Amino acid sequence: MTPQQAAAAGAVRGLPPALLPGLPFTSLAPMQDVTNLPFMRVIARRGAPDYFFTEFFRVHAHSRLEGSILESVTRNDTGRPVFAQLIGENLADLRRAAGDLQRHPVAGIDLNMGCPAPKVYKKNVGGGLLRDVAKVDRILGTLRDAVPGLFTVKMRIGFEDADNFAAVLALINKHGIDLLSVHGRTVREGYRGDVHYNRIAQAAATVHCPVQANGNLTSAAKALAVWRETGCAGLMIGRSAIRNPWIFRQIREAGQGLPVHRPTLADVRGYVQDLYEATRTEGIPEKAHVNRMKKFLNFVGQSVDPEGRFLHETRRAQSEAELFTVCDRHLLAAPDQPYPDEPFDGVVARPNCEAPISTGDGCRL
Ligand SMILES: Cc1cc2nc3c(=O)[nH]c(=O)nc-3n(C[C@H](O)[C@H](O)[C@H](O)COP(=O)(O)O)c2cc1C
Repeated sequence: MTPQQAAAAGAVRGLPPALLPGLPFTSLAPMQDVTNLPFMRVIARRGAPDYFFTEFFRVHAHSRLEGSILESVTRNDTGRPVFAQLIGENLADLRRAAGDLQRHPVAGIDLNMGCPAPKVYKKNVGGGLLRDVAKVDRILGTLRDAVPGLFTVKMRIGFEDADNFAAVLALINKHGIDLLSVHGRTVREGYRGDVHYNRIAQAAATVHCPVQANGNLTSAAKALAVWRETGCAGLMIGRSAIRNPWIFRQIREAGQGLPVHRPTLADVRGYVQDLYEATRTEGIPEKAHVNRMKKFLNFVGQSVDPEGRFLHETRRAQSEAELFTVCDRHLLAAPDQPYPDEPFDGVVARPNCEAPISTGDGCRL
């Protein structure tokens, strides 16, 4: 164990207690239009992460805390702490939003310094902040003053390249950030391609707070390998938790050397049903809800069959009946067959489903 891992295991930095101290802690990565309260509940029913993060609250002169995101904090009954994420750049607005959020039972306030959508970074928020180290300094200072509790940061390793990375890590120390989540890609690298785990190791060796590794932790085995390789304290998982909602319990089991839960295709069928029911909002037309489900199935389908037939067929479904006929055909023909841990090579989620549908290439702001 590195000093960073040992410190986190002892919770010396004051993070809320993890489910099983002594193991790397886990978080569900914030994902806009995905990680709302119904989705957190669906995940928690299959083995909760240690921590949840809300999708980002937009912060600008006229912003108010968005009710649908806020309920993932105020009505959260998963039993797990929820960090509330902000995206913005104006100091007074960020201070106000952080103050407003702290009137609710948040585990901490998280700052988004990673969103790669052009619409976002052109406003110099999210990943756009990484171009301006002086501004990061001011924002971290302002929010540190405004947040007596836990103040956390989620960042990429840079904008075009990692040239500013060391300077930003120094600011993480300067401002006493409590937890740093690092998605090991630059903004330009988007969501694909290799993750620079060596940069996560650099962060873990540099900062005084626990570091969570993020980016392509596709299975429990991969996540634990990255934990060992980088010396980080925690593991943050996004898209692979949509594909495999059992991943957090699998990490705990594998981390303890216990037999690892192996979901079957029938379990996946149950997951899809649960998702369908849990995420349905009153009044939403059936076809719109079926289309919304495709955002999740886009990832689930990466492990169903190597030819991507499930993906192809679910993308064509127009009604609930059509959707579940496809699910039954692929998931109940051999219900006891294990659901693979890793995605099949070459079965890719559509790029526009790796980010909110509204922009097609990243975060909606
Ligand atoms: C659909 C989608 C929405 C996302 N929304 C957010 C967000 O609101 N805030 C944020 O910090 N990151 C957001 N991200 C980035 C993820 O939190 C995570 O850093 C990224 O997906 C890499 O992790 P993964 O490989 O485990 O998915 C989003 C990613 C996806 C795919």
